[in-house]
Amino acid sequence: MALISPESLERVKQAADIVEVISAHTDLRRQGARWTGLCPFHDERTPSFSVEPQEKLYHCFGCGVGGDVIKFVEEKEGLGFAEAVELLADRYGVELERQQEDPRAEAKRQQRRRLEQLLERTAAYYASFLWDSKEAGKARAYLAERGLGEQVLREFGVGYAPSAWDKILVRGQQAGFSVRELHEVGLAQRGREGEGREYDRFRSRIMFPIRDRRGRTLGFGGRAMRPDQGAKYVNTAETDFFHKSQMLYGVDLAKAAIAKTARAVVVEGYTDVLALRQAGVEEAVGVMGTAITGEQVATLSGMVEEVVLALDADSAGQEAMLRAQRVAAGRKMRLRVAAMPAGVDPAEMLAEPDGAERFRGLVEAAVELPDFQVSLVLDATDVASPVERDRALGEVAPILGGMGESASRDDLVRRVAERLDLEPAMVMGRVVAARPASGGSEPGPGGAVAGATAAQQPRRAVELTSRERRERALLAMCVALPEEGSEYLERLTDAHLSPTGIRAAAWLRENPGDPASNLPHDDEMAGLISELVMLSRDQPASRESMELNFLLLEQRRLEDELAAAGERGDYERRAALSRERAALVERIAHTQRVET
Ligand code: CTP
Ligand code: MN
Repeated sequence: MALISPESLERVKQAADIVEVISAHTDLRRQGARWTGLCPFHDERTPSFSVEPQEKLYHCFGCGVGGDVIKFVEEKEGLGFAEAVELLADRYGVELERQQEDPRAEAKRQQRRRLEQLLERTAAYYASFLWDSKEAGKARAYLAERGLGEQVLREFGVGYAPSAWDKILVRGQQAGFSVRELHEVGLAQRGREGEGREYDRFRSRIMFPIRDRRGRTLGFGGRAMRPDQGAKYVNTAETDFFHKSQMLYGVDLAKAAIAKTARAVVVEGYTDVLALRQAGVEEAVGVMGTAITGEQVATLSGMVEEVVLALDADSAGQEAMLRAQRVAAGRKMRLRVAAMPAGVDPAEMLAEPDGAERFRGLVEAAVELPDFQVSLVLDATDVASPVERDRALGEVAPILGGMGESASRDDLVRRVAERLDLEPAMVMGRVVAARPASGGSEPGPGGAVAGATAAQQPRRAVELTSRERRERALLAMCVALPEEGSEYLERLTDAHLSPTGIRAAAWLRENPGDPASNLPHDDEMAGLISELVMLSRDQPASRESMELNFLLLEQRRLEDELAAAGERGDYERRAALSRERAALVERIAHTQRVET
């Protein structure tokens, strides 16, 4: 398929009525030039979602999402960019023109499409085999006995692989696919000795299609039915096409609920995800094993800020939670742990009467990860032994030291002191000594470290630091007054800005003119840029107020530099910077007089 031409894209955006499209998902009311309503992406009681019909943008000032009409359709309908454009073109009667792209890229895309179709066909075949074949009768009975109903099994496309050696191989070839292609997507494999014939990788197994965010099947997990069948699970092998570590099981179905509840519940297994969805916990996704990966954390952190880990309480599960904290470090993510009883996974719990209630209770009662870690250490400590108490103190100090000053840290310090029968002040001393070296940067919502210090953070970037508010005000004015804007974008350096501010400024520099007409694809940036465009229409902009905001950011930068020089013991630099600051403060006072 060729690319949609930029002109067509523009025409679709012009023709589409963004208010109409969004109104299908939330009630919008006119407020001046803008429409507002309850955000369709998160739960809220008072409206913080607005739609700007002239710029054709939406933005939620509560949860930070935003974009244009295409982005909205992508998110709400779970479509790819091109698919969203096609849907809108169809609805608003725009003829799409395509343009040729690089033939090699096009061939590659076409090949990928073919492989996706092969997987889709095969998944459909497995599913029909589960429901219709005599052979799969036992599998149906087994699933029913586990309490998984037909509706949820169909939603996840669960199927059954026949016992024959080459059913998929033969059918695939009949449909025009080569053995090589079947091999490439991991459906066929070669005999053990390498030389042997190809045969079906999955046989006599319950098949769980593993789908990406958009619902495309990229691989499978196959569960054995009998104990003598070898591995309990066989998954699609790692190929160019499929990386299990990058997938989150069930994310396609869970993403709407994740957006709505502003949280994701992370479990280990396929059956856990199914059982939870069936019980109404629709925000559940599976990591497919105990080891949560960096890619999985990255996917989650692009969707949500609160993640509840409901992993097995055994030592592998505990290790996995600590690992989750390491891979989440530096991300804006709040990790909590639901204390699952040892040896019971969510699917098993839900198979019990009241299981769903119990599980919900555990999720609600989930504690911050440091809290969980401290409990682990304390529970494993024989408090009668001084050596043990010392060891425990040594283990909890760095956990608490990583938390930053907070009420929850102080609570934990008190708990540790009480359990180990030590003076709270002494525990606090050890905690402070175990603090990681400070980087000197301001702990804004984006800067705080996951898990530990994220404890007091709001779910999303609702609460901005004053620096962030200032930088957003200035960047919005750069949008409102493009000529002055380009000058200030020049003057702003990374040292003036927060991490997101740096990216937004870079984007505005690279896309001068009309930022609303060409939003970034990245979710966070699309949200921020649409916010800036809306702010630019709300707030008065003038060269004077730009100057003032800039100088105030400059002052923050100087303070940072001063602090750093002080820490280094560089007093000469400090003195120079102090003089600079005095001059700056005077300029600020002067500018303020002019402005008011
Ligand atoms: N897993 C895997 N390969 C294995 C074992 C496990 O991919 N050899 C993944 C699967 O995604 C599985 C998850 O790890 O769902 C958890 O494994 P386990 O607890 O053993 O299975 P359950 O999901 O509990 O499966 P069931 O409930 O059917 O016993
Ligand atoms: Mn299980």
